[in-house]
Amino acid sequence: MQILLIHGPNLSQLGVRDPAVYGTATLDDVVEAARSEARAAGADLEHVQTEHEGDAITRLHAARTDGTDAVIVNAGAWTHYSYALRDALELLSVPKVELHLSNIHAREAFRATSVIAPACDGSIAGFGRGGYPLAVRAALALAAERPT
Ligand code: DQA
Repeated sequence: MQILLIHGPNLSQLGVRDPAVYGTATLDDVVEAARSEARAAGADLEHVQTEHEGDAITRLHAARTDGTDAVIVNAGAWTHYSYALRDALELLSVPKVELHLSNIHAREAFRATSVIAPACDGSIAGFGRGGYPLAVRAALALAAERPT
């Protein structure tokens, strides 16, 4: 199984960015939490973080044909307004898990709307670093259920 984990803008700043909301784990820390869960399940995890929406979209297009079995996406603020990212996710037939460190439903009103949620199989939000292994397990379970 091959999992693609994508992080959007400002998530490179984890560790220093608003630790009361996002915790003190760095981007490397959360990626490692996901990767070790994947490894324990015998899966591979590729990670991409980008501040550029087009780069994320281009990577998702490639995932259609490069052997990716599931996608986990923490789209940062794109979550709340990027119809382009949503369209790119809709192009993919593999399982897609939306992931957030914070509980987006318990914060500012604009964060309660996710325009990418309808293009994903499910969402995990509010568990901080602990959400990453959960997302890997969800992605692998959904991928295993898919007809081959
Ligand atoms: C986030 C939540 C978003 O609202 C925010 O813009 C982020 C991080 C999260 O992981 O909690 O950048 O996706």
